[in-house]
Amino acid sequence: MRGKVAIVTGASRGIGKAVALRFAREGVKVVVAARSEVQPHEKLPGTIGETVADIEKLGGEAIAVRCDVTSEESVNAMVEATLAKWGRIDILVNNAAIDFPFPCVEMPLKRWEVVLKVNTTGPFLCSKAVIPSMRGQGGGSIVNIASNAGAERGSGTVGYSAVYAVSKAGLDRFTWALAAEEGKNNIAVNAVKPWGVVSTEGMRMWAKPEDQIGWKSPASMVTCVMFLAKQDANGVTGCVAFDDELVCWHGLEVEEG
Ligand SMILES: NC(=O)c1ccc[n+]([C@@H]2O[C@H](COP(=O)([O-])OP(=O)(O)OC[C@H]3O[C@@H](n4cnc5c(N)ncnc54)[C@H](OP(=O)(O)O)[C@@H]3O)[C@@H](O)[C@H]2O)c1
Repeated sequence: MRGKVAIVTGASRGIGKAVALRFAREGVKVVVAARSEVQPHEKLPGTIGETVADIEKLGGEAIAVRCDVTSEESVNAMVEATLAKWGRIDILVNNAAIDFPFPCVEMPLKRWEVVLKVNTTGPFLCSKAVIPSMRGQGGGSIVNIASNAGAERGSGTVGYSAVYAVSKAGLDRFTWALAAEEGKNNIAVNAVKPWGVVSTEGMRMWAKPEDQIGWKSPASMVTCVMFLAKQDANGVTGCVAFDDELVCWHGLEVEEG
């Protein structure tokens, strides 16, 4: 992995930040891509600059690039900034996502549309923008961060909204389609989703402390993203799986902290 270049969307906090830090520890150069340059809300810590500072404290290399994954212009500018800095892109982690956990009858159309734009159109735009470089280099790896919400039937207002479930079901389907399209170009495309709830800034903002019992750290997600980031189309591709499944199937060791 040393010397490779990875873009991680939504790396200002949560799972994306944990993934960015692990990449840096493994010698990967990291593009920390998200919107927050200043803390957006008192209950929502994390900025792209703070993630880069934390990576630099570990002796790693990273750049903060403000990027809104719903904007093709912003995504293309982020990819251009990456190529200008390091001249290659080996790994893309489509991690950025949002939700507004309201029932359908209370969901404003604008919010429905923005969830689809961030969670499903964003991975499409980012993948579209990095694939030409990956093809030119002879391969690469795209890792989508999926959710159980995309597949389980008890969705709706139980913890997340219907549109979040729709957006993540679309991401699973996008993963399979893109893996089929890019196999001949040696680009692996996979998705991993957490079994259970990962305690992140975004999740904690919506939940009462008593409802957070049993939530887990991002460690197993980080382990699985590292494993999938190492793949090309000769290895694992077209896989949509839980973190716990990948850990078991491939004998991965989960390192906490
Ligand atoms: N935590 C869980 O239990 C859980 C369960 C299932 C799936 N997931 C998935 O895991 C991933 C990470 O979740 P998390 O819990 O770590 O979330 P989080 O703490 O809410 O972080 C979400 C990240 O996405 C970024 N983001 C949001 N809108 C964006 C946009 N338009 N453009 C660029 N970046 C944007 C945010 O940064 P800015 O606000 O700075 O832009 C932030 O860095 C998501 O795909 C989520 O669906 C999480």
